[in-house]
Amino acid sequence: MSFLQKRSSDTKFYIFSLFGALAAVISLITVFIAQISLRGWIKGMRALLKGEGLVNPFLHVGTPELRPIVKDLRVLIRDLETERRAKDENQISWSPRALKEILNKELTGDEILIVSNREPYIHVKKNDQIEVQFPASGLVTALEPIMRACSGTWIAHGGGNADREVVDKHDHIKVPPENPSYQIRRVWLSKEEEQGYYYGFANEGIWPLCHIAHVRPVFRSQDWTQYVAVNEKFAKTVVEEAKTDDPVVLVQDYHFALLPKMIRERLPKATVITFWHIPFPNSEVFGICPWRDEILDGLLGSSILGFHTRFHCNNFLDSVDRFLECRIDRETSIVSYKGVSTAINHYPISIEYPAKWLEDQKPIAECRKHIRGINGFPKDRMLGIGIDRLDYTKGILERFLAVERLFELEPKWIGKFTFVQIAAPSRTSLDQYQTFDAAVRSLATKINKRFGKEGYEPICLKIEHHEPRQVYEYYRGVDLCFISSLHDGMNLVAKEFVASRDDEQGVLILSQFTGAARELPEALIVNPYNIDQCAAALHIALEMPMGEQRDRIRSMRGLIQEFNVFRWAGRMLLDAARLRQRTRLFGHIQDRYLGKAQSKL
Ligand code: G6P
Repeated sequence: MSFLQKRSSDTKFYIFSLFGALAAVISLITVFIAQISLRGWIKGMRALLKGEGLVNPFLHVGTPELRPIVKDLRVLIRDLETERRAKDENQISWSPRALKEILNKELTGDEILIVSNREPYIHVKKNDQIEVQFPASGLVTALEPIMRACSGTWIAHGGGNADREVVDKHDHIKVPPENPSYQIRRVWLSKEEEQGYYYGFANEGIWPLCHIAHVRPVFRSQDWTQYVAVNEKFAKTVVEEAKTDDPVVLVQDYHFALLPKMIRERLPKATVITFWHIPFPNSEVFGICPWRDEILDGLLGSSILGFHTRFHCNNFLDSVDRFLECRIDRETSIVSYKGVSTAINHYPISIEYPAKWLEDQKPIAECRKHIRGINGFPKDRMLGIGIDRLDYTKGILERFLAVERLFELEPKWIGKFTFVQIAAPSRTSLDQYQTFDAAVRSLATKINKRFGKEGYEPICLKIEHHEPRQVYEYYRGVDLCFISSLHDGMNLVAKEFVASRDDEQGVLILSQFTGAARELPEALIVNPYNIDQCAAALHIALEMPMGEQRDRIRSMRGLIQEFNVFRWAGRMLLDAARLRQRTRLFGHIQDRYLGKAQSKL
């Protein structure tokens, strides 16, 4: 036998031995599998086919032998989804068009309904003329461009004194007035309802409960009764407005904590995405609310519940863990409660980029001139701006104290710098707001007396509503913007100021207690309670070289452009679309295969 022939016969021997060994191993495995109860295995497979335990981590597949497979598959699905989500998101250039495409492609044109307390366009009567106002509200600022892109219906409280005069017989009005693209459905509230639900429970109870501003929440059972009743009224309106049995409903904010569950009871197939626009407190603070369980129970009717930050998501999960009997998967942030799974995610809100209000703005040099002109300031006056609702959470007193301290430490700014504070009157019938209004006026007067002189006031206080176009002109005409919130979910003024500065100039001073501070570290980040530090930040801002201003603001503009409000809404809608697709897919699998499997057993 030649050497080559011998080698070939050896190789054949090895191959035969290898196959022999493999056959033995396979036989052993077969015997092992045969040990497993066929019934149990089929039951487990059935559960897997239904998607139980795979997409829903709280449903366990009964067969112990399948548990490791389910666990591995679950991890795999999650990793693939996270990867796919990030890839999908980064590939999209986020614009109204992109959002429309997601709606048409991913949500196959499903119906969109938004519910919020505040409406985007308010009709008010002034001297027998009806005017349209755009409210000072972060929520409206963010959602209005989304509705312009998606169409659909926005259900909100009709709060303007001329609102009833302009609606059709179904209480609808098409907006925006200049170019209608969606409709508002107005809901009418009686004085008692508005008092109890909006002023009382929402704004004297939940608002101070959720903000660390050292204002004591007030909980009255009469307010709670109205809160429940008004949430029910809106739930009925959602059903009236829904043209299908499975709309996508975007529920907004702390006015409607009970609405998600109420919608789910009436429209079980709806996808309810709830967004909480304010901070969510830790469980110890939240626990003082006499209706804490009802609030959590209501919110857990949502398919997706969103907060601005991961921190607020964790606070919510801790409260749920502490006060309700439910299952929480900390890894996926899914809560399973009374047969409903709710995904808790963070979606930092943003603004339209570029903003519609920038469309017909004058060039920066003209805005500077105009702002100084209308206020009687000399051309070279350095200006700072604060734009807020007149609310005790915004740190307006601390801001004024910082201006005062600046003058004490750096007297060279006296006569050269003015701080303009625009404050939109808000929730004016509440005691806390009236007291705060008086305190703001009195501190401004005190500082103006101390450092002002003939023709010069260091603080120019304007307590009145300004339309967004005027606000944007101020952003563009000043040297710095100072946001000193004591606590704020996001604060969109920070993003608006940055977005308005296409000249890449201007300095942003930003409280560390805003959600925005996490995204805009190039701002001068301050602790509003540290008055000396805020005064120093004002001084640094006033002296900051143009190159540094440009570098900082350019970087922030880049971020806002990329993470604009279309991305915020798009992420939630994509998550909703995946959820709906998955539900439909498993429904389909169940009908097709499970039906057959059952008939064979
Ligand atoms: C906060 C809330 C919003 C609300 C806004 C204005 O930003 O999160 O929901 O729209 O304040 O408050 P208002 O009471 O005037 O609607």
